[in-house]
Parts: sequence; structure tokens; C-alpha cells
Amino acid sequence: MYCETDEDLCELVNRARKYTEYGKVANYIPALGRAEQSDLAIALYYKDGHCVKAGDVEKKFTLQSVSKVLTLALAIMDQGEEEVFRKVGMEPTGDPFNSIAKLETQIPAKPLNPMINAGALVVTNMIEGRSTHEKLGRLLTLIHDLTNNSKIDVDHGVAKSEYETAHLNRSLCYYMKQHGVITGEVEELIDLYTRQCAIQVTCIDLARIGMVLANKGRDPLSNRLILPEGIATIVKTFMVTCGMYNASGEFAIRVGIPAKSGVSGGIIGLVPPNIGVGVYGPSLNEKGNSIAGVKLLEMLSQRYQLSIF
Ligand code: DON
Repeated sequence: MYCETDEDLCELVNRARKYTEYGKVANYIPALGRAEQSDLAIALYYKDGHCVKAGDVEKKFTLQSVSKVLTLALAIMDQGEEEVFRKVGMEPTGDPFNSIAKLETQIPAKPLNPMINAGALVVTNMIEGRSTHEKLGRLLTLIHDLTNNSKIDVDHGVAKSEYETAHLNRSLCYYMKQHGVITGEVEELIDLYTRQCAIQVTCIDLARIGMVLANKGRDPLSNRLILPEGIATIVKTFMVTCGMYNASGEFAIRVGIPAKSGVSGGIIGLVPPNIGVGVYGPSLNEKGNSIAGVKLLEMLSQRYQLSIF
């Protein structure tokens, strides 16, 4: 059974919206603190191009950690699987997304996985390009191809706000640079990373990216292969094991779809082989995931039996 109409989704959004009251909008990146706590939106994108949506779907927000999925795909395309996983691990962590603790206790400075900040910084450090501008341009091109939306760009205000306050991410970088895991100038890497996190989208854009991932990296509407199937598979697997941070296990049980969240309140999800999901709800729970967005996905998954397990 598929969710076919905006009305079906609207009912779920109306029920889930009350949970926005119980969370908090992120403000450790000052510009994110301006989001509307009660906003909630969802879009489902099907392989045939049909898109069902409800809630505040026109609201734009920044990718934040959702970008980690896309930079991972790009870095593997650039460097190959072996080189990427020489520098970053494949295992989930029970620690918060910005934790520095395991860098010292595991193999020196090798982050556990590419979905936590330490791992994502290593991945961004592996993107090819002669300048930050060129590297960011290559990431934007990938996103334009996946979304079929060439208007997507960086919100420079959010990027600047994070750049000025990203001291924890800087310390992760300096620690890893000391151990040779990160190369080059840390400030340049933080500049690129904060711009990638500040790429601005809607939940419809996220749902379309999810749909292409669900379809093994091929855009079914143009029949163009955007990501090699093996890379799409790696990315989707990380979404299951690490995409919702230290809530990934509970999310797998309650919702059961590969997904990745960001502190702006975005969640990208997908149901192979043909549905992409995009959610926006900036009110977050204590683990940094959209509080009402997770509830909404739980309701959606149960009603339409979307769990992949
Ligand atoms: O590096 C940061 O802290 C942010 N730019 C992204 C973190 C994030 O989205 C974590 N997600 N739940």
C-alpha cells in the first residue's frame, strides 16, 4: 500500500506536529537558532516522478549532517573505496556526533565512521579540486544532478555563522592532522566543511535524492547513472548503521528505513527500490535528530509498512 495523496500525509503531519513542542531548535550554530520551532514538513518522491507532500514544504533549510552522505559518495568516486576506508572506519559509535573521545582510544585518530563529524571532516578532506571553490562546485554539481534542481546553493549567512563558531570541529581537525589523517590547511577544510553543511534545500530536494539512492544511483526519470551502484549501496548501509547517530539502533527498530539527519532538522530517507523521503522539522531531541520528524517517520512507516527489515 502506498501513500498516494497529499491529504494522507497531511493527517500524519498534523498528528506529529505537537511533538515539536518537546524539542529545541539547535543554536550552537547561531544562525540555526532563527528557525521556527513548530515547522514540520514531509515529501515522498516516487520513481515515476510522482511527489506527495504535506506541511511547511516550501521552507528552505541547510543540509548540515545530511551533506555527509553526499560528500562520502563524492570522495569514494574521487579516491576509491580502499583509500577512503584506510582513513575512516565503518563502525557505528554510541557517542554523540561531535565527540572527540574515541579518536584517542581507537586506532590513533582514525574516526569510527564517516557520519560523525570527525569522519566527515576526513572525507571532505579527500574531495578532489584545486581550490575550495572547485571542490564545493563539484559537490553542488552532484547535488544538482541528484535533485534535478540547479538553483541549489550555499546559504552564506549560515556558513559564516558556523565557520566563526566551529572550534570543536577545528580541534578534531588539528588532532587528526597531528596523526597525518588530515592533510593541508585546517582553516581551508573548515571553510569547505561549513559551506557543504550550509547548502540550502527543501524536503522535496531531499526526497528526490533519496529516490535516486533507492534506485541504486540511477535517476529513473532521465535514466542517467549519477552514482555507481556500489557507492550508492555503501552510502545506504551507513545510513542504516550510523545515519541517526547514537539513535540509529532505535530508529532502525521503530522506523526501519535508511536515513540521515542533520541539526537543521532535515532527514533524508529512502525505501528501496522506489521511494525517497525528505523531512524538515527543526525542533530537535537530545540526540540532535528532528523530534517530530522521527515521530512522523515512525507513523508513516507503520501505516504503510515501509520497514526494510
Ligand atoms: O559540524 C556540525 O556540527 C554541523 N555542521 C553538522 C552537525 C549535524 O548536523 C549533526 N546532526 N545531527
